[in-house]
Amino acid sequence: MHASVRRTVAATALGMAAFANPCSAQDELATARKLALNHCGVCHTFQAGEPVRQGPNLSGVLTRAAGTADGFAYSDGFRKALAGKHWDATLLDRWLTDPQSVAAGTVMLYRQDDPEKRGLLIRFLESLQ
Ligand code: HEC
Repeated sequence: MHASVRRTVAATALGMAAFANPCSAQDELATARKLALNHCGVCHTFQAGEPVRQGPNLSGVLTRAAGTADGFAYSDGFRKALAGKHWDATLLDRWLTDPQSVAAGTVMLYRQDDPEKRGLLIRFLESLQ
C-alpha cells in the first residue's frame, strides 16, 4: 500500500475516534463540508435532486456504483476504468490525489496533494446520503 494511502487510512481511523466526542465530530464535519463546498462545489452538487453541474451530483456516492449519478454523461475513460466498481476511502484517496491515475482520460480536473485535506473531503463524502 502507498505511504500516503496508509496515512489517510490512519487519519480516517482518527476521525472515527472523534465520534466518541460528539462536539469535535460535528466540528470536523462542518470543516469538511466547508472545504468540499469550496473545492468541489463549482463542479458538484451534494444533495439528492440537485442539478448536475460540470460534474455529477455526489449524493450517496459511497452507497452506489461509480459512474451512476442520474443525468450525467461520464467520459469514456471514466466508464472503462470504473464500471461496476464502488468507491471506498482508499479509492477516493487515489482519485482526489490524481484522477488520471485511477481513470486515464477522465475529465475531472482537480488534484489535492494534502493528505489531511483529502481525509476531510472523504469524511464529507462518507456523510452524504
Ligand atoms: C473542475 C470541475 C471539478 C472539480 C473542481 C471537482 N470535480 Fe469531481 N468530477 C468532475 C467531473 C467532470 C467528473 C466526471 C469525470 C468523468 O466523467 O471523467 C467528476 C467525478 C467525480 C466523482 C465520481 C462520481 C461518481 O458518480 O462516481 C467523485 C467521487 C468526485 N468527482 C469527487 C470530487 C470531489 C470530492 C471534489 C472536490 C475535492 C471534486 N470532485 C472536484 C469535475 C470536477
